[in-house]
Amino acid sequence: MDSVTFTILRYDPASGKEPYYQDYQVQITKPGMMILDGLNQIRWEQDGTLAYRRSCREGVCGSDGINVNGANMLTCVTHIDEVVKNGRLVIQPLPGLPLVKDLVVDLEDFLQKYFTVKPYLITRTPDPDKERLQSPAERKKLDGLYECILCACCSSSCPSYWADPRYLGPSALLNVWRFIEDSRDEGADERLDILDDHHASWRCHTILNCVEACPKGLNPTKAIAGIKKALVNRRF
Ligand code: FES
Repeated sequence: MDSVTFTILRYDPASGKEPYYQDYQVQITKPGMMILDGLNQIRWEQDGTLAYRRSCREGVCGSDGINVNGANMLTCVTHIDEVVKNGRLVIQPLPGLPLVKDLVVDLEDFLQKYFTVKPYLITRTPDPDKERLQSPAERKKLDGLYECILCACCSSSCPSYWADPRYLGPSALLNVWRFIEDSRDEGADERLDILDDHHASWRCHTILNCVEACPKGLNPTKAIAGIKKALVNRRF
């Protein structure tokens, strides 16, 4: 494979044109090229007008979530040869989010939903002299919850998120469960008040797209099931 066709959705609101697809030939110049390497090659050598986000190149910052051949992923940690089909990648912005330009989406609403669930430690008891301690077993409960990088791949793959603009979405719900499960946190009740709502945990219909889409291998659906169980236990 000497080259791959990148078919990219282009959109510039300033042009007044509807979105359209544009083909670019990306040369495979080294083994293990990532999709981000291909996008950089296009922007740096062929078309400097192409807009996309990236920063760390290490799967840490979460800025480069996009949709490739129908699946959400991070461009910086996905090899071209893992996803190429018939010599082509069809590349689009994350679905279900407002489009800003080309592959750049507006994350304002997504992040606002994250802040709604109070994603920080809430404490009521007096501060101890040193840090609030946690046993190894208590710390272990947070594995699979704290690693979210807020790339929006999960929420933007969820049909419930597309259909209900008020739905908090799998990312915010995974992140709130991370704090409810934290042995040092004392804010579960006020968080559960927010979550006991048709636009919060009850909007999840266990479609599982979020699990498939998460580039960090996390399981938001399991976290949401934990929230639902906590809500039922609280009520009865
Ligand atoms: Fe930071 Fe991909 S560029 S996660």
